Amino acid sequence: MAAVLDSVRAFFAHSVFTIDAENAGDVVARENLLDRAMGPNRRRKSSEKIRRGRVPAEGLALVARDRDGHVIGTVRLWSIEAGVNADGTPINALLLGPLAVDASFEGKGVGSALMRAAMLEAKTRGHGAILLVGDAAYYERFGFFATKAQHLVMPGPFERSRFLALELVEGWLDGAAGMIVPSGRVLASAPVRRAA
Ligand SMILES: CC(C)(COP(=O)(O)OP(=O)(O)OC[C@H]1O[C@@H](n2cnc3c(N)ncnc32)[C@H](O)[C@@H]1OP(=O)(O)O)[C@@H](O)C(=O)NCCC(=O)NCCS
Repeated sequence: MAAVLDSVRAFFAHSVFTIDAENAGDVVARENLLDRAMGPNRRRKSSEKIRRGRVPAEGLALVARDRDGHVIGTVRLWSIEAGVNADGTPINALLLGPLAVDASFEGKGVGSALMRAAMLEAKTRGHGAILLVGDAAYYERFGFFATKAQHLVMPGPFERSRFLALELVEGWLDGAAGMIVPSGRVLASAPVRRAA
């Protein structure tokens, strides 16, 4: 992770933002940013069923920071099984989202930088494919297409034309069919405080 982020930081050394690993101190700012960018219905999405109660895939929770270190963008990726292949073997993959950038920084390349850093880090970590639900007009520039996910389904309502996939390893999703299910580490629940 450090090597990938160092190279990303170097690339953006003269920019108004940097890409960094998310840390515990970023959570409140990230959630506020997502509320502003995606609105109150964001937790009702089918993707949320995959994310709920799980932690992101190792090393794949990234933020963009402005020069003062404030969170201005976020992206996270989650471990999933993307259906099964022709032999009936589950296919390990990642689900990307949500991706969001603070409105005052939109159009400055922050979203693209987050996407490219996430894709590079996922590939470096040996992942084979990334899926997401989003606007094809935005995500096709990064190599995401609906054809790769055409026989897969989300666990809930989704628009087929917005269900996109990118292979990090060629042929990874060959024959992939079935439902996306979460496979990431379960979030440890907060300790229950008992009255004395
Ligand atoms: C979508 C989003 C992440 C893009 O971030 P960003 O930092 O503005 O993106 P970039 O600067 O890297 O790219 C800007 C380009 O993407 C285009 N773009 C942005 N959103 C787009 C969309 N939904 N569909 C098609 N193109 C889009 C812009 O028109 C611009 O095009 P240009 O390069 O030809 O001028 C950001 O607008 C955002 O947070 N939106 C609200 C939340 C959201 O919709 N998240 C994505 C869920 S699908």
